[in-house]
Amino acid sequence: MNPNKEQTLLNIQKIRSEFPILNRKVNGNPLVYFDNAASSQKPRIVLDAIDEYYKNHNANVHRGIHTLSQEATVMMENSREKIRNFINAKEACEVIFTRGTTESINLVAYSMEPLLKPEDEIIITEIEHHSNIVPWQIVCKRTGAKLKYIPLKDDCTLDIEKLDELLNENTKLVAVNQVSNALGVVNPIDVIIEKAHKAGAWVLIDAAQSAPHIAIDVQKMDCDFLAFSGHKMYAPTGVGMLYGKQEILNQLAPFHGGGEMIKEVWMDHSTYERLPFKFEAGTPNIEANIVLGTAIDFIDSIGMDVIHQHEHEILEYTRKRLLELDEVIVYGKDAELSGAVSFNLNLPGVHPSDVGMILDKKGIAVRTGHHCTQPIMRRLGVKGTVRASFTVFNTTEEVDRLIDAVKLSIRMLG
Ligand SMILES: Cc1ncc(COP(=O)(O)O)c(C=O)c1O
Repeated sequence: MNPNKEQTLLNIQKIRSEFPILNRKVNGNPLVYFDNAASSQKPRIVLDAIDEYYKNHNANVHRGIHTLSQEATVMMENSREKIRNFINAKEACEVIFTRGTTESINLVAYSMEPLLKPEDEIIITEIEHHSNIVPWQIVCKRTGAKLKYIPLKDDCTLDIEKLDELLNENTKLVAVNQVSNALGVVNPIDVIIEKAHKAGAWVLIDAAQSAPHIAIDVQKMDCDFLAFSGHKMYAPTGVGMLYGKQEILNQLAPFHGGGEMIKEVWMDHSTYERLPFKFEAGTPNIEANIVLGTAIDFIDSIGMDVIHQHEHEILEYTRKRLLELDEVIVYGKDAELSGAVSFNLNLPGVHPSDVGMILDKKGIAVRTGHHCTQPIMRRLGVKGTVRASFTVFNTTEEVDRLIDAVKLSIRMLG
């Protein structure tokens, strides 16, 4: 790869100047932020939008007759429309504001509970984040439904052939991530959606690691649910969204009860609001819901295809440089990867956190540990990995610094 190619795609220095945190030094070195899969840094436009909201518009939404409340309501509903457009949902009422991917998946799991019978089955995969495992374990335990897993092959890709054996007329839902947070592996969601639909099952896509990097079109995908978190795509923490097909969301029970989600409340019963409000009980995270729209404006100002292409080049350069080192194991080394690459030093007694600490001394932020994916770690026979994950502002020079620090780790720990 030509390390200068990125210059032809985007003005990297201009983009870097949008992120004030990149002026920071860590342990005397300019910060290299390769922990974007855990949480992204925030561009100035997002920081300014938070400030602007609280300085000029702050009020509760939907209920107020006064000007500030109406302004805040319009801003939040404009943001919902931006999200609708971002994922190409048919209707804005199919976009539900949540606290993030975890809450979105829990919403579906708990709201499906009344529909589940003991003979029903849910299929997930061995490559899920805990937030796409535990809610299904809990709901299956409460209903008697069975939880089944698509296994992972030795090359770190899903054994998709096994899906045919797992699916049957009792399968109610298949839930899978589009991109693995632990390994960066891209899963064949097109095939999964097609097979699941043939069997009559709904499909939930965990897009926490794809939404920041890959253009999403829920109508083209034909998924029934899709979830992502704002904080992984330039927005603040505590905001995310759940997309659901309108006709399916209408079949689900409310998740939380309270204000906003009701039409009428009587002493002995209540009636519920139309979508999306039926699933948005209580005062929402108004500022973050609004600013998620600003984060989408930031993405749109560069273009998702340009972002994807740039990050892909950084990732492929990292994979190539890591594979040049004999002491490094790269997980999913031949798989299609997006956004992240996961590795370990093949040296006795070395824990990923040992490497993470040496990298931190050099100002390089990576994630080490099990990445909330303990079943994958068990499958790989490791306690954890070192994960470098990328964003629009990363450069090949930063990757070179990572490789130098990995070489230093090999010398120090070997
Ligand atoms: C694939 C995947 N799913 C779900 C989550 C949970 O996201 P959140 O903690 O923002 O709810 C994450 C977070 O790392 C993730 O990477």
